Amino acid sequence: MELERISLAIDPDLLAKFDRILAESGVANRSEAVRDLIRKRLVEEEEDPRAEAAASLTLVYDHDTRELSDRLVEIGHEHHAQILSTLHVHLDHDLCLEVMALRGKRRDLRRLASRVLGLKGVLHGGLVVSSLDVLAEVKR
Ligand code: NI
Repeated sequence: MELERISLAIDPDLLAKFDRILAESGVANRSEAVRDLIRKRLVEEEEDPRAEAAASLTLVYDHDTRELSDRLVEIGHEHHAQILSTLHVHLDHDLCLEVMALRGKRRDLRRLASRVLGLKGVLHGGLVVSSLDVLAEVKR
């Protein structure tokens, strides 16, 4: 198979940290690591997008970032049907931790997570999704 070459722009500090993780995990090179990340994302996206799911969305953010708190409140109201509950913890002077319990179509939960995690000022986070259909089958 012929491979296609791409180039990407990245913050040097971020790349140095990524290289350190690669060295520790024994992955041969950056290309292989990026291919792994893309494959993982594709597998996740290929799950049935209409399946009913429950999820937790975790985010750590800097509450001083301009308009971030307002944006989070707006998104929260827009997605009120999917957001069952939110836990907020003030970690220190600047940082906040939030954990949202979600329920809805897998696709909608992923969209909501992408919107929230893509906001300026959100430093880290992730979504853990459990398909309720699959869980019901396992239980039987
Ligand atoms: Ni806070």
